[in-house]
Amino acid sequence: MRVDRAAYACLWLLLPGLPFTAAAASPLGGDAACATCHAAQTAHYRATPMGQALERVEVSDILKQHADLSFQEGPYQSRIARQGDRSILTVTHGTETFTVPLLWAFGRGQAGQTYVFEYNGAFYESRVSFFYALGALDLTMGAQNTKPQTIVEAAGRHMSSMEARDCFGCHSAGGVSGGKLHMEALIPGVGCESCHEAAAKHADAVRIGDIAAAKLPHLSALSADDTADLCGRCHRTWSQIAVNGPRGVGNVRFQPFRLANSKCYDGADSRIRCAACHNPHEALETNLASYDAKCAACHSAALHTKVCRVAKANCAGCHMPKVELPGAHARFTDHQIRIARAGDPYPN
Ligand code: HEC
Ligand code: HEC
Ligand code: HEC
Ligand code: HEC
Ligand code: HEC
Ligand code: HEC
Ligand code: HEC
Repeated sequence: MRVDRAAYACLWLLLPGLPFTAAAASPLGGDAACATCHAAQTAHYRATPMGQALERVEVSDILKQHADLSFQEGPYQSRIARQGDRSILTVTHGTETFTVPLLWAFGRGQAGQTYVFEYNGAFYESRVSFFYALGALDLTMGAQNTKPQTIVEAAGRHMSSMEARDCFGCHSAGGVSGGKLHMEALIPGVGCESCHEAAAKHADAVRIGDIAAAKLPHLSALSADDTADLCGRCHRTWSQIAVNGPRGVGNVRFQPFRLANSKCYDGADSRIRCAACHNPHEALETNLASYDAKCAACHSAALHTKVCRVAKANCAGCHMPKVELPGAHARFTDHQIRIARAGDPYPN
């Protein structure tokens, strides 16, 4: 079990104290090192939210398209303004002003984007984030529970070096080795090697024809439990959540936990692996009917298993309900597959 309560708080995932457990990473020249031989897996990967989980502010489309954003919190006025290919955060409070260039943009997923800047040699997480649903700034997840005491706190939350390591570790590749963050080696966005350990060595070995060294594990052969643990390095594992919480809707984003709590889950059955429903190299499939076949792999008259008396299609629409996460301005899919009746409490 990988639990270290002291480490930090990932506000987006509303979960205290669980570090990113980095795969032993070696620097890798990005997807180009794989594209020549694995075109299918590489073609669309970089356009996915995982592939873009971290970007330099210079290339952030959100900040380019929203060149002047502002937000008022009590006496503090925050503004993110584009100047050339930079985005500058300015916080004012009466006559006081704090100005800092944003460096990193985190998140291209369902909800929004959070920014990271550097001040006095440390990384800070921006107190305001961009939310798609609003097309505007609002408080970053978790910031609702705090009140800034200084103008710097109104700009962002100081991160310890461990927290910064974990933050970048889950959203990029190559930057964490020997338990430390090495920004010079970091490649923004989750990379091939974030899931395929030692892939860089593999690529070299294939090129020189060293067949023994070229072997990489077939991740398609992993059990449901082992796949959930692989994805759980970042999406969090069942045991991390079981031990630490959170309870209530705050855990809806921890799919390995939610899924394993449903009656459908069998850790040894590959039909309920994360990768049975999600191709990690492609964009998330949002046509719910396309998941029906995944359910039918286990639920069918031919297999003499339980089938639905209510409907024959769009299974996930009723049995994997979307849940609103307070402060996220977005809804997330509950992976605890179940008979969900209107008005039922969120099961835990
Ligand atoms: C190295 C960390 C890491 C690992 C390992 C990882 N993920 Fe992710 N994943 C992320 C991050 C970070 C995001 C958020 C991306 C964003 O919002 O920009 C994400 C987002 C996603 C999304 C949502 C995409 C969307 O459209 O919003 C899916 C689906 C997903 N991951 C599936 C998986 C599966 C399946 C696995 C295991 C095979 C896995 N992930 C392993 C870090 C990881
Ligand atoms: C243990 C790994 C991990 C750490 C550490 C982590 N994240 Fe994430 N983050 C994720 C995953 C996984 C997702 C996608 C969750 C999902 O879609 O269900 C995500 C999603 C996000 C999102 C996108 C929300 C959305 O869906 O639009 C933002 C923004 C974000 N993280 C920022 C941060 C910042 C800033 C830090 C550091 C303070 C951080 N994260 C630390 C794993 C991590
Ligand atoms: C020069 C061609 C070449 C390059 C470059 C290359 N691979 Fe491969 N890869 C192969 C071949 C050939 C195999 C089949 C080897 C075997 O398993 O016998 C393979 C197998 C794999 C597998 C296992 C496939 C399975 O069936 O499960 C993965 C994963 C993989 N490569 C990932 C990568 C990644 C990631 C990169 C980039 C860092 C990369 N490869 C670079 C040729 C290449
Ligand atoms: C989020 C984790 C994750 C990332 C990132 C990822 N893969 Fe994979 N990859 C997997 C999993 C899981 C499988 C097994 C898929 C299955 O079971 O069908 C896989 C399978 C493969 C295979 C075997 C053939 C196949 O499609 O099943 C190759 C080759 C491969 N990946 C290459 C890559 C390359 C190249 C990249 C970067 C562009 C990459 N992967 C990024 C998780 C990942
Ligand atoms: C790995 C096989 C497997 C897959 C894939 C699977 N299920 Fe199940 N499911 C089961 C099993 C086993 C049960 C328990 C049956 C029993 O109670 O006899 C179950 C139970 C259920 C139940 C009843 C839950 C309850 O509380 O009584 C529903 C509803 C359900 N599944 C829907 C789905 C839907 C929808 C999908 C696709 C999104 C799906 N299942 C995918 C194996 C699976
Ligand atoms: C039985 C099919 C199924 C399995 C297994 C499954 N998912 Fe999903 N997942 C879905 C569906 C359906 C959606 C919603 C797609 C949509 O509406 O956009 C989804 C959405 C997601 C998202 C996007 C964020 C959200 O909340 O909508 C992430 C991240 C994700 N799954 C991760 C995982 C991980 C990690 C695993 C393994 C622990 C997993 N999934 C297993 C069916 C599945
Ligand atoms: C319109 C919403 C809806 C859709 C769509 C739907 N279901 Fe159901 N399902 C229900 C409800 C409600 C129940 C409980 C019915 C009852 O009380 O017997 C149920 C019951 C079930 C059960 C439990 C059956 C039992 O005998 O205990 C399974 C398994 C199931 N559904 C699977 C599926 C699958 C697979 C699909 C897609 C082919 C699907 N459902 C589509 C609403 C839906």
